[in-house]
Amino acid sequence: MKITVIGTGYVGLVTGTCFSEMGNNVYCIDIDNGKIECLKKGIIPLYEPGLEELVLKNQSKGDLIFTNNLKDGLDNSNICFIAVGTPMGEDGSANLQYVLDVAKDIGKLASHDMIVVNKSTVPVGTADKVKATIMQELEQRNLKLNIEVVSNPEFLKEGSAVEDFMRPDRVVIGTGNEIVIGILKELYSPFTSNHERFITMDVRSAEMTKYAANTMLATRISFMNEIANICEKVGADINNVRKGIGSDKRIGYNFLYAGCGYGGSCFPKDVKALIKIAANNGYDANILKEVEALNNQQKLTLVRKIVDKFGENLSGLTFGIWGLSFKPETDDMREAPSVVTINKLCELGAKVRAYDPQAMDIAEKYYFKDNKQVEYAENKYDALDKTHALLLLTEWKEFRSPDFEEMSKRMINRLIFDGRNQYNKETLREIGFEYHQIGNGYKGS
Ligand code: UDX
Repeated sequence: MKITVIGTGYVGLVTGTCFSEMGNNVYCIDIDNGKIECLKKGIIPLYEPGLEELVLKNQSKGDLIFTNNLKDGLDNSNICFIAVGTPMGEDGSANLQYVLDVAKDIGKLASHDMIVVNKSTVPVGTADKVKATIMQELEQRNLKLNIEVVSNPEFLKEGSAVEDFMRPDRVVIGTGNEIVIGILKELYSPFTSNHERFITMDVRSAEMTKYAANTMLATRISFMNEIANICEKVGADINNVRKGIGSDKRIGYNFLYAGCGYGGSCFPKDVKALIKIAANNGYDANILKEVEALNNQQKLTLVRKIVDKFGENLSGLTFGIWGLSFKPETDDMREAPSVVTINKLCELGAKVRAYDPQAMDIAEKYYFKDNKQVEYAENKYDALDKTHALLLLTEWKEFRSPDFEEMSKRMINRLIFDGRNQYNKETLREIGFEYHQIGNGYKGS
């Protein structure tokens, strides 16, 4: 099939690339010329495992074309995916400006019937707005075309987006049009060998499904963080409690990890947006408000433990930081706990020395630009030189089994604050470390 994908962010780029890998002819469009020029040269603007080789391969076969010329893409395709950003507006709602700008452009440039598929996360009812915008432009051109606007939310996780696209848990398509369903079913068939993974519904329910999925997961995390906080008070261990409840099939083990809060481009934004959508429709989304409040509080949980230990004045102290990205396998620091944690430590007078396998450039450029209290280290051990404690904020694999002997040599104190519960408390105690976890109040019998 012939496809256009508008927006070459991580969703658009992964979508376009994976469709081209299955033999479709894909035009990837972006208004950012710099980005398009880089992509043409095979330079990928983001770190996503497996993506680069697929881009290079399909580009050289001619199945994946990068251009800023939307007309070219639309003229040569019948299906157009919208995968542009919906950044959070000041009031917490999703900003639809980019989506509606694209709709306008489609209306101005389309010359034949098309299926327009919206992948961006948008408030319920946006598909109708996109359709109205396209139709308005077509009317001005005195052109009568059949344009179907469909919702097809994405469920890709950063760091495993290619894998998630290739082997999705489900593909959700929102439209009442049977012909469109047939076409999209064929397009997605290489990824959904199990037909139960292809779920069709009305367009508004599809739009709502995306918010419901992400806010359910965010709720699960905030719930586990709350249980962890209670565990600390009552002398229980969240690591055991997690196993104890995860074994119940109705609960399951996934996404049950307490930690120093969720971040990223989706959960924080989508929780806020759904609160706003609900409010705009006369409903007070109390659970979601608490999910958000608890997460904001949780991001500072390690700082609170440090203050308990050292007091409010941290001047003269240096902390080693392992992990800056909001999760492993990405350089994305949007809403990362590291940002709030480091800023707070600096505000209390401390210095930090940070190491992250991927995110240090971004950290230096965008998050701690003029902050002289933040230094960066070449590797995880250098980050510990003469530090008073280590804070582990992101569970990168390389932090999983470090050389504790080497760490002891570098650090002033054998002291670890672990925001991701990576180590065994007893083992660390045996080798002389003071070790603080999230939600582990167990003191030994
Ligand atoms: C999420 C959704 O999972 C994905 O389906 C959607 O399309 C986009 O948003 P992503 O933001 O890439 O994906 O990351 P994810 O792996 O879901 O993690 C989100 C945050 O939750 C991270 O900060 C992570 O550290 C945190 N998390 C996750 C926990 O704190 N505990 C867990 O058990 C799982």
